[in-house]
Amino acid sequence: MSTRRKFLYGSLFSSAAVLAGKKLFAATDQVPAPVKDQAIVISTWDFGQAANAEAWKVLQPGGKALDAVEAGVKVPEADPNNQSVGYGGLPDRDGRVTLDACIMDERYNCGSVMCLEHIMHPISVARLVMEKTPHIVLVGDGALQFALANGFKKENLLTPKSEHDWKEWLKTSKYEPVMNIENKLYKKEEGPMPGGPNNHDTIGMIAMDNNGDLSGACTTSGMAFKLHGRVGDSPIIGAGLYVDNEIGAATSSGVGEEVIRIVGSHLVVELMRQGYAPEAACKKAVERIIRRNPEKAKNIQVGFLAMNKKGQYGAYALQKGFTYSVKSGKEDKIYTSKSIY
Ligand code: GLY
Repeated sequence: MSTRRKFLYGSLFSSAAVLAGKKLFAATDQVPAPVKDQAIVISTWDFGQAANAEAWKVLQPGGKALDAVEAGVKVPEADPNNQSVGYGGLPDRDGRVTLDACIMDERYNCGSVMCLEHIMHPISVARLVMEKTPHIVLVGDGALQFALANGFKKENLLTPKSEHDWKEWLKTSKYEPVMNIENKLYKKEEGPMPGGPNNHDTIGMIAMDNNGDLSGACTTSGMAFKLHGRVGDSPIIGAGLYVDNEIGAATSSGVGEEVIRIVGSHLVVELMRQGYAPEAACKKAVERIIRRNPEKAKNIQVGFLAMNKKGQYGAYALQKGFTYSVKSGKEDKIYTSKSIY
């Protein structure tokens, strides 16, 4: 722990002790002081590492967290080999690649696009919605028209590999909406849910810049072979992503429907406000999903990833195999999250 961090923790604990002595202490009133000059970026899954590297190019010289998260998640968005985000994403059941993304800065500004087709970088369109319109969400054709009017190029996002996989799926067309590109329910008896390239989805990224400000971005092609028009948690502020610059930020990956039901990322941030550490807050949110439907929770994956205002981070998932990537001045690592099952 750095001297500065020790000092900050020390002051926090001593103030808390004084307040506790006067019976005035309440964890919910604690607003941690920002940690300066300790930029850090975290993102979901192994492929987050390459995205973090791009974000770090912005953060390291002192750039803003908002610019960092946009630059970072554009990496998997443009990667044709990533079949769960942007270009090369698996299509819906009609063969259409529809993308969801949102972005949020340190002042509760946010923007989102849902069911956007033909645009390689939905995250940049979401940022424009945030910065250039009085709105927060644009969907479908409206989002596309807005993107084209703002200079984005119309492109075919369906790669030969994803088209091939979709055609294979069409042979059975079994509609089992689970977050798994093999389109089958994960069965615990089959062993640990793989965390490798065949089982990841959304990238959610959270960055803290050298000023101590937080921002986040989340982008996905969503559930493979979904109904046309289906939108998951990723572009929904509060579900797939939430940033509260006083407290921390959270993002999610996995079966979006279950995250939406509990407004997952907002819940994680509120738990951190109550004093939970990031990992503990993520665990609580995962447990809430289980409480709602224990049987269903056994067969799906949801993972949360969070960072607090001190730059501490943590994650928790329903199933084994949820990984996340961290980049700071001190480390460049991929971690495997703890899980319930
Ligand atoms: N978490 C991504 C989705 O459900 O679409």
